[in-house]
This record gives sequence, structure tokens and C-alpha cells, in this order.
Amino acid sequence: MAATTANRMQSDMIKGMPDPISRSPLAALRHNASAWLIDLITTPAAKIRGQVLQHARGRVADIGIGGGGSLRHYPADVTEVHGIEPDPAEWLLRRRAGKLHEGIQFELVSASAEALPYEDHSLDTVTFQLVLCTIPDPVAALSEARRVLKPDGRLLFMEHLRHPDERVARFQDRLQPLWGRIAGGCRINQDTVTLLEQAGFDFAWKEHVVDRQRPRFLSHLAWGMATPLLR
Ligand SMILES: C[S@@+](CC[C@H](N)C(=O)[O-])C[C@H]1O[C@@H](n2cnc3c(N)ncnc32)[C@H](O)[C@@H]1O
Repeated sequence: MAATTANRMQSDMIKGMPDPISRSPLAALRHNASAWLIDLITTPAAKIRGQVLQHARGRVADIGIGGGGSLRHYPADVTEVHGIEPDPAEWLLRRRAGKLHEGIQFELVSASAEALPYEDHSLDTVTFQLVLCTIPDPVAALSEARRVLKPDGRLLFMEHLRHPDERVARFQDRLQPLWGRIAGGCRINQDTVTLLEQAGFDFAWKEHVVDRQRPRFLSHLAWGMATPLLR
């Protein structure tokens, strides 16, 4: 899939970017506002996001790119960023595409993580940021990431997780039915690191923290880099 140059001054030329007026203005406003709200909530994680994304290189798929809060963090080693998003926040993405490092091409791809429109072993980097909790079938998404990554490719992740304290984890379980409804299907009690291991990835490095500045039920974050295990 060829990417189209997103000129810093002409981000409206981004290939695949729907015209914002193709949605009803009210729906577009609501959608961009909720993506902006997600960005606001995730701002405390910006430092971690930067640490993780500095390891991206080459041809990158950013799964569930949302409002594009990741774009300014991609380093110059990246040549293309493909924002995979079934439900893009177009206005925000237009603005953020202008913050990409000069020379990085951007393409918005209307697709789901569970069925990536790429050939086997064709990408250098796949990134998941605060998204494996929301994708309806995270196992299928990780299997797709494995399929499209080159043998020496990198999976970069930053996700919130099931809490290590069993009492908080039980609270997450109780809150989950309500939370899932108000937060777009997000699963706060998911053990995403185990899912990564089971999907056939080997951690090059990983970190985790219980961030006391966040609400307890969202305070356990993990991030790192994994490579596909050779089979
Ligand atoms: C919590 S937001 C995170 C957005 C962004 N990654 C960030 O860090 O700000 C989750 C995103 O996942 C997207 N999403 C939901 N289901 C998806 C799927 N099956 N494939 C790809 N993205 C999906 C949503 O549309 C939403 O933009």
C-alpha cells in the first residue's frame, strides 16, 4: 500500500482522510471532542509514549491512532506512519499530521486491527498505545501484528492493565460492565502483557508502573518493545 506525502502545510492532502463534512457536523464534533478528551486523559503518559515511540523505525502501523496524539513522537528513523483507525477523528488528525517529523509520510487507513490490509512481513514497526483494551478481539489483532511484521520487526506498546493488587483488580472486575459502556468498550481488567506473550512475542524490554497520579483502576501501565518469536 503506497503512502501519500502529508506536506507539513497541506495536511488536508492526506490520502484516505475522509472529508470532515462527510459526517454530520454534530457527529464529527462529538467524535473529535471525545478523541480530544482521551488525549487529555492520557497526557500524563506522554513522556512514556515518547520513550516507547523513539524505538520506531521504517514503515510503521499505528493501530487505533484515534486523534493522532502519537504523531509528534515519531523519530526521524521512521519513513511512513499508517494510522489504522475504523473511526477516525479527522479534524484532530489533520492538525496532528502537521506535527510529524519532516520527511515522514502519513496515511490514514480505514481498517480494523483484526484484519490489517498489508502483506505478510511488510512492516518494520507496529505500535499499540492504549488500544489493546478497546479492540474487540485483541488476540486476533496481535496475530495480525505478528503476520505483518518483518522477522526483525518491532512491536511497541503502552497499555493500561489489570492491577497487581488483587483488591483493586476485583474492583476493576466489578466496575468493568459500567466502564465498558461509558468508555467505548475499554476493558480495564485485561492482562495485556500475558496476551502479548501468548501471541508469540518475545520482550526485548518492558517496564511497568503503578502511577499514583492516575485513578487506581487505571493506574497500572506497561510499556515496552517486543519482537516476533521465530517459529
Ligand atoms: C482509547 S483510544 C486510543 C487512541 C490512541 N491510540 C491514543 O493513544 O491516544 C482507542 C482507539 O481504538 C480504536 N479502535 C477500536 N476498535 C478498533 C479496532 N478493531 N481496530 C483498530 N482500532 C480500533 C478506537 O476507534 C479509538 O480510536
